[in-house]
Amino acid sequence: MAKDDKLSVAAPEKWMAGWDKIYQKMLGAPDEELAEVEVGHPIQSLHHAMRITEVEPEELRVLELACGDGSVACSMAKLGMKVKAVDALVNAVAVTQRRMRILSLSDNMDVSLMDIDGWSIELESYDIVIALQCLQYLFDRAIPRFRELLAAVKPGGFIVYSGNILPHFETDPSIRFITEAELREELVGWTFHSFGTDQVLQKPNDLRGYIWVVARKPQETE
Ligand SMILES: C[S@@+](CC[C@H](N)C(=O)[O-])C[C@H]1O[C@@H](n2cnc3c(N)ncnc32)[C@H](O)[C@@H]1O
Repeated sequence: MAKDDKLSVAAPEKWMAGWDKIYQKMLGAPDEELAEVEVGHPIQSLHHAMRITEVEPEELRVLELACGDGSVACSMAKLGMKVKAVDALVNAVAVTQRRMRILSLSDNMDVSLMDIDGWSIELESYDIVIALQCLQYLFDRAIPRFRELLAAVKPGGFIVYSGNILPHFETDPSIRFITEAELREELVGWTFHSFGTDQVLQKPNDLRGYIWVVARKPQETE
């Protein structure tokens, strides 16, 4: 993959450049560091929720939008799941692929440089769809894409979502916060396994709101 394979996406270049810097730095980390995959509480909640299902991880297909440093995608592939992960940054894809190779997960993973929007996802084709801290950067497409993700989950499958909510510093353009009320409206009929909000003081005068949900689609579609 060449450095200038850069994709143009809805998020401003400045924001993408900020994330890119983080992944670029990670690319310089030793193998032992990248071999350690740590996941946050929404994914931990997903694993907890999945204990009630009786499916073998090897049978599960996972889609992760905006895989970033690849920790989540690799943690799922490590369990034997078949994971498709996409991100629009060359360095995010590169660091995810490097982790994948270090952990010998290439047979279980397909990592692509792709926009998270603008392509159709086959209906009810994934057991788990994950979109952490990314849909909000699609602005007016955030909710419509969220609906497409929900439609892509198989009956009995899971959606794992997280995003920001207020309080948050002002941005230009404004982030499309998906609110608690909107999430609940979109997920009527789904079983909520984990749902919550939090506020984190990232640094002085930078208090940020977060929201997450892990929900299971009803077994029978109406
Ligand atoms: C805040 S980071 C979150 C990364 C990861 N999901 C996580 O939770 O750690 C935002 C990610 O979204 C990706 N991103 C933003 N807009 C995108 C788009 N339209 N298509 C693909 N990736 C996008 C960025 O490259 C970056 O990796």
